[in-house]
Amino acid sequence: MDMFEMFEDYAKEQEKEEPKEPVSNSSYSSYAPQNSMDSSKLIVISVGGSLFFKGKPDSAGIAKFASSINELRQRGYSFVLVCGGGETARNYVSAGKALGANNFELDEIGINVTRLNAQVLTNSLDNAYPSVLTEVKQAKKALLQGKIPVFGGLLPSFTTDAVSALIAEYLNASVLVNLTNVDGVYSMDPKEHSHAKYFNNLSYDKLISLMKLAESKPGQHMVLDLPCCLIIKRSKIKTIVMDGNDLENFKSMIIGMDFKGTIISSEAKEE
Ligand code: UTP
Repeated sequence: MDMFEMFEDYAKEQEKEEPKEPVSNSSYSSYAPQNSMDSSKLIVISVGGSLFFKGKPDSAGIAKFASSINELRQRGYSFVLVCGGGETARNYVSAGKALGANNFELDEIGINVTRLNAQVLTNSLDNAYPSVLTEVKQAKKALLQGKIPVFGGLLPSFTTDAVSALIAEYLNASVLVNLTNVDGVYSMDPKEHSHAKYFNNLSYDKLISLMKLAESKPGQHMVLDLPCCLIIKRSKIKTIVMDGNDLENFKSMIIGMDFKGTIISSEAKEE
């Protein structure tokens, strides 16, 4: 067998592995949304790397998060997940920096770590698309197959928050949720400033002005970054920032009950 024949065989095998139809092999598939493209129940989640990837992956925490997602899917919600890099990414990026990598190369390192984290997340879910996706438009295909698309980073100079905003924009998702390790957006870093103001509601413009103020002060950074904010603003994507450690609160928000978190939208009134 020559190289070309070997490649053809390999390609045929890959085709067999690529699911063409929704696969109904899980216990909840009969409840799972038949049309996962119902954008009114489609939620894009940016899973902050700080939640599950501090040093080594927190497999127990990931499993609990995944079971909440599995449970909510049984209620008819569908999800796209975008996983951040966390401390693991920061460690790799600083090693790359110490060894002379330039900014583009450092971002590539960061992207690779986010994808590695995303792969671990994929393994924990009942019905994830089997590989980490690398292009925004692949999300639609995976959803139409009844799968949960899972992404890491996509583009150098971006972050996974901005990636999640782009995906929410492309899919007309009902809401973008940013799960992080604080319970919402504050005027300043609440861990360093006890008098920081908490916002229940924020307009896009107010969020951007808070961000500009934070960026003008050394060492401060907001929970969302500017590219993410500009995307949610231009497409008026309702965005919720909340604590990803409190899964009961997260589930309450998804099913429309009271919850603690900051809602960013065009209807927000000045607080
Ligand atoms: P994160 O999205 O986790 O970045 O990606 P972050 O906002 O710095 O992390 P947290 O929220 O504070 O923990 C990790 C790194 O991967 C690269 C960037 O270098 C980023 O800092 N990255 C990620 C990209 O270059 N492009 C992407 O699309 C995503």
